[in-house]
Amino acid sequence: MKESKITLGLVGLGYWGPNLLRNFDQLPNCCVKICCDLDPSRLESIKAQYPYLTVTANYNDLLSDPDLDAIVIATPARTHYTFALKALQHGKHLFIEKPLTLEVQHAIELVELSEAGGLILMVGHLMEYHPAIEKLRELIQSEELGQIYYLYAQRVNLGRIRYDENAMWSLAPHDFSVAMYLLDAEPENVSARGATYLQDGIDDVVFVNLQFPGGVMAHIQLSWLDPHKLRLTTIVGSEKMVVFDDMETTEMVKIYNKGVNHNGGYTSYGEALSPRFGDVTIPYIKMTEPLKLECQHFLDCIINHRKPRSDGRDGLRVVRVLQAAQQSRNRNGEPVGIRM
Ligand SMILES: NC(=O)c1ccc[n+]([C@@H]2O[C@H](COP(=O)([O-])OP(=O)(O)OC[C@H]3O[C@@H](n4cnc5c(N)ncnc54)[C@H](O)[C@@H]3O)[C@@H](O)[C@H]2O)c1
Repeated sequence: MKESKITLGLVGLGYWGPNLLRNFDQLPNCCVKICCDLDPSRLESIKAQYPYLTVTANYNDLLSDPDLDAIVIATPARTHYTFALKALQHGKHLFIEKPLTLEVQHAIELVELSEAGGLILMVGHLMEYHPAIEKLRELIQSEELGQIYYLYAQRVNLGRIRYDENAMWSLAPHDFSVAMYLLDAEPENVSARGATYLQDGIDDVVFVNLQFPGGVMAHIQLSWLDPHKLRLTTIVGSEKMVVFDDMETTEMVKIYNKGVNHNGGYTSYGEALSPRFGDVTIPYIKMTEPLKLECQHFLDCIINHRKPRSDGRDGLRVVRVLQAAQQSRNRNGEPVGIRM
């Protein structure tokens, strides 16, 4: 076993858990000791790849292991609250996949418990660790884009159809967390419409509209029933516009020096507003796998007693938006106020 500072246990070895395992396992200040899953075939497969790990089907083995500083939860969302509660009650720092919980009240409880116990609670809002998102935030904060008018995000694909949560709960935590992170603000209200085509009661497609203070709007399209694989975010400001295409490997951010000028002293209505066209620039972005950055951030926060960027409160505000958006969707798009 390699030299380590933080010892981890990980529960959930389905689609996503092995990605977390691979990253944590490769980090020098980390030792993954135990992995847990109910499915024996998943345990077998992980044991074959990582023979030095202990595997178990019993989550209590993680809770009762005094060597574990932290637990990583990558099980389905419906299990998050129970697993997280137990981890915190056993004094373990916690990394939990998104969404933090399915209910606001549960998220509040976890946040309060972690804060009272001085424990790190970090939520897997992966996109907050994406170097391109950092670039977008820098462009907004430096005011290079001018006043932000609105943004929209498209997260659509054919597939990873879920059976126990809808497309919004599965996909939107990324875009909700990014919108709040970029705008450094929380939405005042949300309106959402969705539709079910494949399974009773589970939306395949959801369109969400968030209203932020100052008239800033964020529109988010989520679907697992779409011919395109799109991971696009577009931000429109008064000076410039920017597009982030997460399907691109190198030229992922494009800055458009475009806008609309307000002309003074015009003689006809048609001259009042004139579109302005300029250069398109592509900034160099030094890419590191966002998941690696996210995992390293969790370890750093434990070691240095620092608040994670995507801490429990960030997880809580995303759950608040999800819950309000679900209420709106259930009322056919009626706007629902959000109180943070
Ligand atoms: N950050 C991202 O980009 C990203 C991407 C995909 C999934 N996720 C998140 O990761 C989590 C898991 O998603 P997934 O796609 O891997 O799901 P999955 O269904 O593929 O895997 C879940 C695993 O948990 C195991 N499990 C379920 N109940 C358990 C229990 N009681 N005890 C032990 N093991 C149990 C299952 O056997 C399965 O192997 C979800 O919260 C999801 O939102 C995040």
